[in-house]
Amino acid sequence: MTTVRDLMSTPPLVCGTDVSLADAALKMRDAESGSIIVVEDNKAIGILTERDLLHSAAARHNPSDERVGLWMTAHPDTLGPEEEVGAAWASLSSHHYRHLPVVDDGILVGVVSIRDLMAIASLRPADEAAHDVPRGLEGVVVSETTVGDVRGLEGFFHYRQYSAVELAERRSLEDVWFLLFNGALPDSEQSTRFNGEIAPQRVLPPGLLSLLPALASQGSPLDVLRTGVSLLGAELGFGATTDIDAPTLKRQATRLCAVVPTILTSAYRIRSGLEPLPPRDDLSSAANYLWMLTGEEPSVAHARALERYLMLTIDHGFNSSTFTARVITSTGADLAAAVCGAIGALSGPLHGGAPSRALDMLDAIGTPDRADAWIRDAIGRGERIMGFGHRVYKTDDPRSVFLRGVARSLGGPLVDFSCDVERTVVEALAELKPGHQLYANVEFFAGVVMDACGIPRQMFTPTFASSRVIGWATHVMEQAADNRLIRPTARYVGPPPPQPVPVAS
Ligand SMILES: CC(C)(COP(=O)(O)OP(=O)(O)OC[C@H]1O[C@@H](n2cnc3c(N)ncnc32)[C@H](O)[C@@H]1OP(=O)(O)O)[C@@H](O)C(=O)NCCC(=O)NCCS
Repeated sequence: MTTVRDLMSTPPLVCGTDVSLADAALKMRDAESGSIIVVEDNKAIGILTERDLLHSAAARHNPSDERVGLWMTAHPDTLGPEEEVGAAWASLSSHHYRHLPVVDDGILVGVVSIRDLMAIASLRPADEAAHDVPRGLEGVVVSETTVGDVRGLEGFFHYRQYSAVELAERRSLEDVWFLLFNGALPDSEQSTRFNGEIAPQRVLPPGLLSLLPALASQGSPLDVLRTGVSLLGAELGFGATTDIDAPTLKRQATRLCAVVPTILTSAYRIRSGLEPLPPRDDLSSAANYLWMLTGEEPSVAHARALERYLMLTIDHGFNSSTFTARVITSTGADLAAAVCGAIGALSGPLHGGAPSRALDMLDAIGTPDRADAWIRDAIGRGERIMGFGHRVYKTDDPRSVFLRGVARSLGGPLVDFSCDVERTVVEALAELKPGHQLYANVEFFAGVVMDACGIPRQMFTPTFASSRVIGWATHVMEQAADNRLIRPTARYVGPPPPQPVPVAS
């Protein structure tokens, strides 16, 4: 049995509470360590990490004047040296720590890092790992992809190796769409050709157009999309992904992604008693979306703000809806089936359904002075604060940081208020849910940006779907190109079988 003692680094890197942040940072740099244990009488009373240093730098404090005691996480969880590495691994992976102090009889004897544990974990027999899958598949690698990656601890994500945030700053939605579908960014000629290819495909096919009023009178725009995509697949004759070639699937994917915004905005307008508006070839995807929704040509600032939001939300690792789309594709089902399933997954409040709820929360809070009490009360009732926390990001969500900037550039009282509330929520969650690293996720500022662009709340999640569909379609193509049926196993934990079947009375 491998124990924590076998793995721990010793002696641990330590300092006292009175040491300056500058000196602590130097020690960490020299030791190439991401953390330092804060000790008093050889007892671990706190831990200071790179993240704490970043926070203090972001707050523009002078590191020579700040004391470690003020910035450390006090009373850190610890491990015993005789604990088996499996227990230590569970503790690290479920709480998202990167380092844990090792304490023997109250005295600090070492430190264990995730790197040390990973080394051992990777030596474990595969069947043991296969049976040890954490709830919610957290941290489990289920596939390989070249579409992109999310690095939760670094607060970074990319599409085909380009930082998604930089793409959102520098390129157009259509360029990023091209990148995902074709594996490389377009040059200007390819970009013009691709725009010309997409624009006419935004038009609804006649069968779907004729059924849309009936659908829109029955359900929300996202419901209409779910059903509409199914109809679209039937009308255009999408075939099983196992039966069609890659160029055919790509053609279907392009048509589907082009028409989704039209389905959504038409459904919204019909439901609001307005005539749906046909798409306009002369507008970019984002500007056309706002046009089809409101009937007004948007300002450049609003169209660009929305476009940036859309670019940031195209893809994000193996999130629930993307995984759903891939599972469905792995059965050989057609593109429409995969996207219908993905829309269903996205509709849940724990995935894509949060941005309108985040704005509802801002309404309920009302004024900045009420934020702290409101949030503590909600957490006391066991509620979740919408727009905060993330399965993968245990640091600032780069999408939320970027969108906060986009929101600020648009300005307005809601933006100032939401920034105040964000600070209050992060502080309250750090105190009330210690160790979980909860920060604003994409949904919090997404709602603020969409609201500033004139998008009604009921269209927040549908608008998210209008860009994420490009990511889903890309994953469908990747899964179809190198497919194996995704079919995991569950551990049966009910009463032991076989139970005699009673005869029906
Ligand atoms: C996104 C989310 C589902 C990820 O959750 P997860 O990785 O499964 O984390 P868990 O559900 O295991 O939660 C871990 C702990 O943090 C708490 N937590 C996580 N997010 C929280 C939130 N937004 N508000 C309050 N507490 C939260 C949980 O209550 C739990 O605490 P506990 O151990 O005391 O019960 C979760 O953070 C959440 O529900 N957020 C709100 C909904 C949201 O914004 N969704 C959009 C996601 S992009």
